[in-house]
Amino acid sequence: MEYIGEWMLHDMEEVGSTNDEVKKLSANITGEKVIISAQRQINGRGRRGRSWIGLDGNLFFSQGLECNLNAIGAMVFISTLSLWRTIQDFNPLLKVELKWPNDVLVNNKKVSGMLLEKGEGDYLIIGIGVNIKISPKLVSMLYPCTSLAEEGVDTDRISFLQSYIENFNSYYAIWEQKGFEQIKTEWLSHAKGLKSEIIVHLDNEDISGIFTGIDENGSLLLTTEHGIKKIYAGDVFYPQRKQVVNE
Ligand code: BTN
Repeated sequence: MEYIGEWMLHDMEEVGSTNDEVKKLSANITGEKVIISAQRQINGRGRRGRSWIGLDGNLFFSQGLECNLNAIGAMVFISTLSLWRTIQDFNPLLKVELKWPNDVLVNNKKVSGMLLEKGEGDYLIIGIGVNIKISPKLVSMLYPCTSLAEEGVDTDRISFLQSYIENFNSYYAIWEQKGFEQIKTEWLSHAKGLKSEIIVHLDNEDISGIFTGIDENGSLLLTTEHGIKKIYAGDVFYPQRKQVVNE
């Protein structure tokens, strides 16, 4: 067990899911901020019942922190903004964008995903996977993926985690001092597809409209022909623009 600032870090050799490990831990602690990371994750879970493939050299970790129910929305944006900042700091010229609600894209491909779950008591679990060295290449992938190594960023999982936590602490402090509005404005300035047409896959339908922003709880605001719709959960896609070729 070691500490990164006030975060107690436990780097395990192999786990089913780091989220499950933090969930177990949260039954026996109060107040502490904990992180469990793993060298191998064999049963990683993704959003909306999907799985997360655990390839060697990549980063799998979960943060556990006590969090008021009303602040959960803010945590998503604090975490993804911190991932954005960590990657962008490695190479300020890289195209790093945020995809609602909690993916990070590098050169239009997904490099990181997040699964938020509730632990015991007031514990919130923020589970994050970052493709550091390699990305899954399956035809069945919902969205094209990449890794930092494939995009020319040379780092390792623990160095990345340490920088991420520093950034998380800074954005958390901004949120405490200035509130969600400040976080939201910065998040939107890095969001892919703002003010453009997007398609959102919901459980039973797809809806398209103009991505006009997020509300105070982090819901996506979509302007459709039937008015503004608030989306609480879904998968965002960007329509392919047809290329005009002059011959
Ligand atoms: C997604 O994009 O669908 C979310 C993926 C979240 C994966 C991470 S890896 C660490 C943590 N443990 C899990 O089982 N899932 C999250």
